[in-house]
Amino acid sequence: MKAAIMGYGTIGSGVAKILFENSDVITRRVGEPIELKYVLDLRNFEGDPIQSYIVHDYKEIVNDPEIKLVVETMGGVEPAFTFVKAMLESGKHVATSNKNLVAEKGAELIAIAKENHVNFFFEASVGGGIPIIRTLLKCTTGDVIEHIYGILNGTTNYMLTKMREDGADFDDVLKEAQDKGYAEKDPTADIEGLDPARKIAILASLVAERQVDFQDIPTEGITKITPADMQYADKLGMKIKLVASMDESGDSYYARVAPFLVDKESPLYTVEDVYNAILVHGNMLGDAMFYGSGAGSLPTASAVVGDLVEMAKHVMRHVDFTWEPEKITLKDPDTQEYKYFVRSKASEAELKNVYGDGEAISGVADGEIGFVTEKMSEKDFKEKSTKADIISFIRLL
Ligand code: HSE
Repeated sequence: MKAAIMGYGTIGSGVAKILFENSDVITRRVGEPIELKYVLDLRNFEGDPIQSYIVHDYKEIVNDPEIKLVVETMGGVEPAFTFVKAMLESGKHVATSNKNLVAEKGAELIAIAKENHVNFFFEASVGGGIPIIRTLLKCTTGDVIEHIYGILNGTTNYMLTKMREDGADFDDVLKEAQDKGYAEKDPTADIEGLDPARKIAILASLVAERQVDFQDIPTEGITKITPADMQYADKLGMKIKLVASMDESGDSYYARVAPFLVDKESPLYTVEDVYNAILVHGNMLGDAMFYGSGAGSLPTASAVVGDLVEMAKHVMRHVDFTWEPEKITLKDPDTQEYKYFVRSKASEAELKNVYGDGEAISGVADGEIGFVTEKMSEKDFKEKSTKADIISFIRLL
């Protein structure tokens, strides 16, 4: 079976490596070899063994009836969408790692795949090498999924870990994450939380079986986290993690991406470095956590090749699942309830007067104290905080 890779960057080159190095095991599992025929890229890769596979026009792949399997690892919505659509319409199966494409066009591409009796798979789009998409589609299907709490961005988890453990500087540690191939081309999507927002939108869409738009998810990144916040967290026996959450509520869902304080009881507490974890709570299952390498070339490419093997085994049929394009209106985020950690210039007595009972933490920075409130809605918290002279706040998971 002949395959093509569109985009020979961090992930695409990992896919080629796996197809070459693991060809024996892949051949055994599929029943025939998966042979790479084309690599679509703007560059020529002069002198690189991949050079002989390079094409510059995606139509060469579209028009080759021998190609049954296509990998999209270009990133971004366009031209990836145009290329993937053309591949599906010409009867080719497509596997992608591109969360931007899946979050925005997933429902549409699944429908196109169905019409053309092929498959559009995207296991690598969330959690890198962690098998979470197929888990939600195939394994937890007897449950009502009530919550998902995910550390879904390797770059920021790596950064938060190094900042806490080594006191590393934000910019230095971001550069390290970029050098290791974890960060997006424009790392704003990582540090401002858009990347995990897209990923939780994909998971929520699969759970809801309808479109959840990532633009509707209140999203905060890690750019405002300071060394003092880390020290307060330490004093509380907690860690700061960028968590992407989804909570079922009635006929809809709350969703949010933000830094959260996570205590030792949570399985997310021990998730460090580039690792990702997705804590799924089902009404019958209880908790199950899926943990592993969340970013980087080979872990992500491993999930893409897993999709290729699955598609090769179902080359004659569409594997059905539901993701309707009709959009869900998410719950008003102001009605969601949390405990909050605040840093404030006010006294403990003043803070108790504003927020009610709570725990004060002093001795971290001059001229301020930390305070953990009781549980209250976002709306209440925001209203009360106008009277509390606060410097910053972080929610507790
Ligand atoms: N930039 C992403 C991350 C890559 O750091 O998690 C994997 O999607």
